[in-house]
Amino acid sequence: MKKVWFIGAGPGDPQLLTLHGVAALRQAQLVFAPDPYEHTCADFLGGKEVCCPFDFDFSELLAKINAGLQRADVAFLIPGDLTFYAPFQALIDHFGAQSQVVPGVGIANAAAARLKRTLDLPGICNRAILVSPRTLGNEEGMPRLEDLAGKGASLLIYMNNLPLEELCATLRRGYGASVPIALLHRLGLPGEEILLGDLDTIVFETAGRDYFNLTDPTGKPALTLVVVGETLTAPVDGSWWDYRREHIWKKRGVSTE
Ligand SMILES: C[S@@+](CC[C@H](N)C(=O)[O-])C[C@H]1O[C@@H](n2cnc3c(N)ncnc32)[C@H](O)[C@@H]1O
Repeated sequence: MKKVWFIGAGPGDPQLLTLHGVAALRQAQLVFAPDPYEHTCADFLGGKEVCCPFDFDFSELLAKINAGLQRADVAFLIPGDLTFYAPFQALIDHFGAQSQVVPGVGIANAAAARLKRTLDLPGICNRAILVSPRTLGNEEGMPRLEDLAGKGASLLIYMNNLPLEELCATLRRGYGASVPIALLHRLGLPGEEILLGDLDTIVFETAGRDYFNLTDPTGKPALTLVVVGETLTAPVDGSWWDYRREHIWKKRGVSTE
């Protein structure tokens, strides 16, 4: 049976495609690759029919996939990874056992690596929350962004649609103080930029540049992830390591020599 592959394609840098993803891609003749993957993954797409999935409505997409399956496997390159904020669930369910999902490097993973920071730190941060102001909504009784932005929380903010001034003011209310914030723009892509500041300074650091395409009439995705929280800059010494070794790892029989 021919397969429909849903391949986590990472942030865009082809080096962050997994070996499994590349192997799956090789088997496909028809590949759905949204911008910018058609260009960044071009080395793996030679001789294949490449389309943007968002050019089709759902029934057209099914017809196109079914036609492609007559020839060979079909593949989708998923921005980042399927785990969250990926619109492919209805297709995966539709193809059932024919669907195969390959995990990829999520944007959160790429961001942590680029910042060289783990997003939880004992004593500093005890939770990391993935969130988008676009999907939070304003429903009565549901938590708002500022409710999620409390002391000890790292926030990873996807698809931001708030002006940066408003976003920072909202977060400041939640945290009750200015905390570190990073804007990670076009991670793993040409034009990558990382801005690190705090809630009081980051607007100034953007020098008026719109990192979220809020003024772009096409509404084109901005490819900017926001990471907020004290874990971004908190100093870390070896005491946490030694505490865990003494109280946890030694008891498990891990060699202490
Ligand atoms: C629809 S979500 C995709 C999330 C993805 N499924 C994942 O696993 O990470 C799109 C949002 O992810 C972030 N994003 C995607 N690609 C990015 C990149 N290369 N650099 C920075 N942020 C990116 C932006 O916040 C963008 O609005």
